[in-house]
Amino acid sequence: MILVTGGAGYIGSHNVIALIESGYDVVIFDNLELGHLETVETLKSIQTKGKVVDFIKGDLQNFEDINSVFKTHKIDAVIHFAAYSQVGESVKNPQKYYFNNVYGTLNLLRAMLENNVKKIVFSSTAATYGEPVYVPIDEKHPQNPINTYGKTKLMIESILDDYDKAYGLKSVRLRYFNVAGADSLNRVGEWHEPETHLIPNVLKSTFGGGKKFQMFGTDYDTKDGTCVRDYINIEDLAKAHILALGYLEQGGETNYFNLGTTEGNSVKEVFSTCEEVTEREIPVDVMARREGDPATLIAQNTKAKEILGWIPEKSLKDSIKTAYAWECKLNK
Ligand code: UFG
Repeated sequence: MILVTGGAGYIGSHNVIALIESGYDVVIFDNLELGHLETVETLKSIQTKGKVVDFIKGDLQNFEDINSVFKTHKIDAVIHFAAYSQVGESVKNPQKYYFNNVYGTLNLLRAMLENNVKKIVFSSTAATYGEPVYVPIDEKHPQNPINTYGKTKLMIESILDDYDKAYGLKSVRLRYFNVAGADSLNRVGEWHEPETHLIPNVLKSTFGGGKKFQMFGTDYDTKDGTCVRDYINIEDLAKAHILALGYLEQGGETNYFNLGTTEGNSVKEVFSTCEEVTEREIPVDVMARREGDPATLIAQNTKAKEILGWIPEKSLKDSIKTAYAWECKLNK
C-alpha cells in the first residue's frame, strides 16, 4: 500500500488516480486545510480493479497523527505532496512554511524510520534552482532558491540525502516546472482558494462575475515581453511518479529529476491558447511585474527520460482543454 500525503490536493489527487489505475492500494493522509473532502469522496468512488482507497485526516505537524497511519496500514512506500506552495506567502510568513513543509516532513520521515519504510517519492520544484543561470535548466544547475518556499523544498532534498547516508532511506525527488491541466475524465482538477496560477486565473475570467485577468509584466526580455514557463501536464506528471515508485521498488538509488517538457510558452501565448480553447475574448488588464518572477524557466528533461523512461505526451492546449472542462464544473 502506498501512503500519499496531500492526496486531497491538486497534484496529489491526480496521482492517487494514477496509482489506482496502476494497481496500487492507496491511503491518503491530508489535513484538508487546502485539500477538499469532495476530492477524497471522488477518489474513494473510483473502483478500478477493486483497489482500496483509504483516507485518514491528520496533520504532519502532529507526529502521532502520521505515525498512527503506519501502525494501522501496511505501507510499502510514500509519495509526499503535502506542503504549502505559494511563493509570495512564503516570503511574508516563512515560519508557516518552515513548520509545515520542513518540520512536517521531519515527522513523516521519523514515522517512516520507526516503521521501517524506506522509500519515498518527494514533490520538489524548479523553485529550488532560483534565478536561472542558464536555460534549459538541467539537474546540475546550481540550486539557489530566492524564496522561502523554494528553500523549504531544497532543505528537504538535503535532509533526504543525509537520511539515505545514515539510514538507507531511498528517495526520488521530482522537480516540477509549471504543472497544468486536469484529469481527462474531469473527476478532479486544480482547485485552490485563492487561485494564484496563470491558467486557472485566465479561465476564471471567462465566467460571468469573474475578475478581469491580470497579466503581470509585459517588459521582460523574452520573445513577446511576458514571462516564459514550461507547462507540464498533470497526467504526464502523475505518470512520472508511478515510474519513480517502480524505480525505487526495483532497488534504485536516491536520485532527482526535472519534470518539464523542454518547451517554453509565454504568458501571452497561454492567454491566446485559452481564448482559442474557450472561443471567447477574455478581458485583460496589463499590470506591473509580480515580484520574484524570473523571465524564463524551461526544463531539460533528458535525465527523467533516460533513467525513468518517462515521456511527456500532452501539449499546452491539451492541458488548457482539460483545465477548462474542470473550471466549467467548478463554476456550475
Ligand atoms: N501570471 C499572471 N497573472 C496571474 C497569474 C500568473 O500574469 O493571474 C503570470 C506570472 O506572473 C508568471 C506566469 O504567469 O509570469 C506563471 O505564473 P504561475 O503563478 O502560474 O506560476 P509560477 O511560475 O509563478 O510558479 C510555478 C509553481 C510554483 C513554483 C514556481 C517555480 O506554481 O509552485 O513555478 O518558479 F514555485
